[in-house]
Amino acid sequence: MKLRIATLPGDGIGPEVVAQAQKAVDAVCRRFNHEVEYTFGLVGACAIDACGDPYPEETHQICMQSDAVLFGAVGDPRYDNNPTAPVRPEQGLLAIRKKLGLYANLRPVETFASLVDKSPLKKELVDGADFLCIRELTGGMYFGEKGRKDDGDTAYDTCIYSRFEVERILRLAFEYAGRRRKHLTVVDKANVLESSRLWRQIAREMEAEYPGIEVDYMFVDNAAMQLIRCPKFFDVLVTENTFGDILTDEASCISGSMGLLASASVGTHTSLFEPIHGSYPQAAGKNIANPVAAILSAAMMFEYAFGLMEEGKAIRQAVAASLEAGYVTEDLAAGTASHSTSEVGDWIANQIEK
Ligand code: IPM
Ligand code: MN
Repeated sequence: MKLRIATLPGDGIGPEVVAQAQKAVDAVCRRFNHEVEYTFGLVGACAIDACGDPYPEETHQICMQSDAVLFGAVGDPRYDNNPTAPVRPEQGLLAIRKKLGLYANLRPVETFASLVDKSPLKKELVDGADFLCIRELTGGMYFGEKGRKDDGDTAYDTCIYSRFEVERILRLAFEYAGRRRKHLTVVDKANVLESSRLWRQIAREMEAEYPGIEVDYMFVDNAAMQLIRCPKFFDVLVTENTFGDILTDEASCISGSMGLLASASVGTHTSLFEPIHGSYPQAAGKNIANPVAAILSAAMMFEYAFGLMEEGKAIRQAVAASLEAGYVTEDLAAGTASHSTSEVGDWIANQIEK
C-alpha cells in the first residue's frame, strides 16, 4: 500500500517526537512492504514566524492531499502570557480541525501492566482500566460566537451545538460502544446548560436505534470525580468540546504519564494523529521527551486511517516491550537509567523489525 502522510511537527518537542514516530512508521513499512511518502508542513508558532499564519494555506493543501496527518504539538511560551497577541499558535490547531472537518477526537485510555505503579492513583483502581474518550472537536465554546463588549470590560464565549453536530458525534460513540463492551456514558451538564439538554434529548432518541447498548448519563462534575474514583466503570465516554478537553487531561494520569497517550481526530476530509501532550517547551531540543505518545499515534494512524490492524499491533507490541524492558525516557525511569528520546525511538523501531 502507498501511504501519503502529511507530517506537521509543529513547536517545542513536536519535531523530536514526530521524528521517532516516523522511525516506527518506516520500520513498519519495511516489515510489511508498504511505501511511504512524507510531506512536511509548518503549523503553530514556527508557521507564524515563517509567514504570519499558524495554519498556512500551503500546509492545508498538503493535508488535503494526504491520506493522514501526523501531528506533533503547537504552542510557544512567547504567547502564553500575552493575552492580547493578535495571532496565536493554538489557532493553527483549531483551524486545522475546522478546515479538515475533524469533528471527533478519540483518546483511548489504557494501562500498561509494567507501569501501573507510575499512576498517581492506587494500583488496584487503575489496573485493567481501558476506555475510550470521544470528544467533539469542532463545536461548542471553542467555535461559538465570542467577543468583548462594554469597552472591553465584558467578555463572552458561546457554547453552541446544532442537532446535526450532536447526532454525528453521538452516532460515532454508539458505534464504538457497539464494538467494545457496549456501555456508553454521555457526559453533560444538562441540569444547567441548554446545549447539554439538547445533547441529552438527542442521545435519548438515539437509544432506540441501539438497543444492545447500555447508556448512562453523567453530569460533568460527577464524571470528573468518577474518572479517578473508579476508572474501570467506563467503556466509551462521549462529551462536548470543552468538557472533553478537561476530562481527557485528567484521564491521562490514569496511565501514569501524559507522555503515553495518543489520539486520533477523525472527520470528513482526512484524519489526524497526535500525542495528547503539548509542546512542552521546557524540554524542547534536549532529547528527553517521551516519544511513546507520538509513536502510539502512528499506531492509531495505521489502524484508523488505513485499516492496517497488524501494522498497528506491531507498533503497540514494540512499545509494550520497551516499557517492560525499562527502556524508557526520564519521566518513567524512577530509579533506573533513563534513555534519550532518540534512543527510545531507535529501540522501538528496531523491535518492530525483529
Ligand atoms: C488539546 C489542546 C488544545 C485544545 C489547545 C492546544 C488548543 O489542549 O488538543 O487538548 O484545547 O483543544
Ligand atoms: Mn487539551
